[in-house]
Amino acid sequence: MRVIVDKDYQTLSRRAALFLAGEIIRKPDTVLGLATGSTPVGTYQQLVKLHQERMADFSEVTTFNLDEYYGVSPDNQCSYAWFMDHHLFGHVNVQRNNIHIPNGLTQDVELECRNYEDKIQQAGGIEVQLLGIGRNGHIGFNEPSSEFAAHTSLVELDQGTIEANSRFFDSRDQVPRQAISMGIKSIMKARRILLLANGSEKAEAIYNTLCGPITPQCPASVLQLHPDVTIMVDKEAGKDLPREC
Ligand code: F6R
Repeated sequence: MRVIVDKDYQTLSRRAALFLAGEIIRKPDTVLGLATGSTPVGTYQQLVKLHQERMADFSEVTTFNLDEYYGVSPDNQCSYAWFMDHHLFGHVNVQRNNIHIPNGLTQDVELECRNYEDKIQQAGGIEVQLLGIGRNGHIGFNEPSSEFAAHTSLVELDQGTIEANSRFFDSRDQVPRQAISMGIKSIMKARRILLLANGSEKAEAIYNTLCGPITPQCPASVLQLHPDVTIMVDKEAGKDLPREC
């Protein structure tokens, strides 16, 4: 795994955006796996800027988002569909039918999950998967104890995740308890992975991801088994990392 420690969130976000823009230049019809949450907001801002400067053309890019809250409509401002529109898709020239986000309102979850996996395969697989990380080491919504062999499925959110994500809702009670999430196996199939983390509250998860045992108790630790992972952190998130793990 390559680890880059940047001085601050701004620098990290710029570096991550350049990494993704570089991928789009290398392969204009690339398939990107995308994440939501606070962490990638700066990266998306920088990508929009690069697009405006004509350095990132999304016209042939296909995207698959990691997850969506179950039971939440894409029009709801708390949905990840809305988030993506607001932070990225609404500002770049990605084609609407190349955007994929699990349908949180599906009547048939199993079918939705199977179809999502099939669509990723039909698109040729994910070239670069962007990830954030939960304080408990989750990636996507694969919480501690998730099976490493899991594909896209309906998952239960951890109490800590509900707590952490309540900042996006009016109250804790409004945070959905379930989500449709790509599984660890779906994530591991991506050819390249870019994981971002900022802030000291992520330091322990980053330490465990890089230096801890490979265990479902820290889902992100599975990335130690992936052949092409880049981890970009700011100083705070990287503060517990030794020179060598
Ligand atoms: C989001 C996702 C989650 C977040 C993680 C960190 O699509 O899959 O794994 O990346 O919860 O969230 P933030 O960035 O808000 O700290």
